[in-house]
Amino acid sequence: MEYADLLIENHGKVAVVRLNRPKAMNALNDNMMNELGQALRGFDADPAVNVIILTGSEKVFAAGADIAAMANYTYADTYPGNYIGRNWEHILDIRKPVVGVVSGYALGGGCELAMMCDFLIAADNAKFGQPEIKVGVTPGAGGTQRLPRAIGKSKAMDMLLTTRMIDAAEAERTGLVSRVFPADKVMDEALAVAQAIAQMPVSVAMQIKDAVNRAFETTLTEGVRYERRFFHAGFGTPAQKEGMAAFLEKRKPDFDGM
Ligand code: CAA
Repeated sequence: MEYADLLIENHGKVAVVRLNRPKAMNALNDNMMNELGQALRGFDADPAVNVIILTGSEKVFAAGADIAAMANYTYADTYPGNYIGRNWEHILDIRKPVVGVVSGYALGGGCELAMMCDFLIAADNAKFGQPEIKVGVTPGAGGTQRLPRAIGKSKAMDMLLTTRMIDAAEAERTGLVSRVFPADKVMDEALAVAQAIAQMPVSVAMQIKDAVNRAFETTLTEGVRYERRFFHAGFGTPAQKEGMAAFLEKRKPDFDGM
């Protein structure tokens, strides 16, 4: 499948989706977000794919929503037209793990899209920021909600109100990203991480993702109950039989197709 604003790579059970509007710093427009939804849904439904990587170029993940496209929007174009809601959040419905890999800028909507991934790996040249206030609007794709949950209120308010960017080291220190690698090695390292996940039973990876995301939507007691249902259900699956037998037989488990 060919896309105008995305590049696709296949690495065995790992699919890589690259945002690709180099002349506009990967600014996120309607076409790119429609294509992204289509690509992600396709890989989610593809039994040959266990893990998806979402990334940009070496210079930029995405510099935000497309300001040229938005500049003349009226309220009538945005609220009734469901701007953002109409095509930015397909990623939240993807059930397989989505690993975000950020090199260079992840600003505004770019930072918000990155935060919709399940976890983030950064290059040491990564810069995260929410500069929307400078173009006269609030963030519109979850920046005021996901950023404080990721890095705490004080840091988030600082970034949102002053537009200060944080670098990869600060992003890792504050928990926004899980790991940082040198820029020239980050894709190889991220692929190794994704390949490791891809060797696990995909059904269990999907359950873990579902349960972790539940933690942000419910109470602790309800969340643990939700997790327990998956745990109990696991005893009716081939993955549990294979995983525990392999441990006892001191061999590597083979979770292919599980
Ligand atoms: N939308 C549209 N075009 C953009 C863009 C954006 N968000 N960001 C960069 N570009 C374009 C520039 O206009 C420029 O185009 P031309 O060559 O045609 O002039 C090209 O990309 C290269 O950009 P710069 O010349 O500015 O490159 P730089 O290296 O000097 O700076 C940057 C890079 C710091 C990322 C800078 O481009 C920048 O600050 N971009 C805007 C960031 C921003 O404000 N993002 C928030 C957008 S609002 C939003 O995202 C709303 C939401 O929450 C959903």
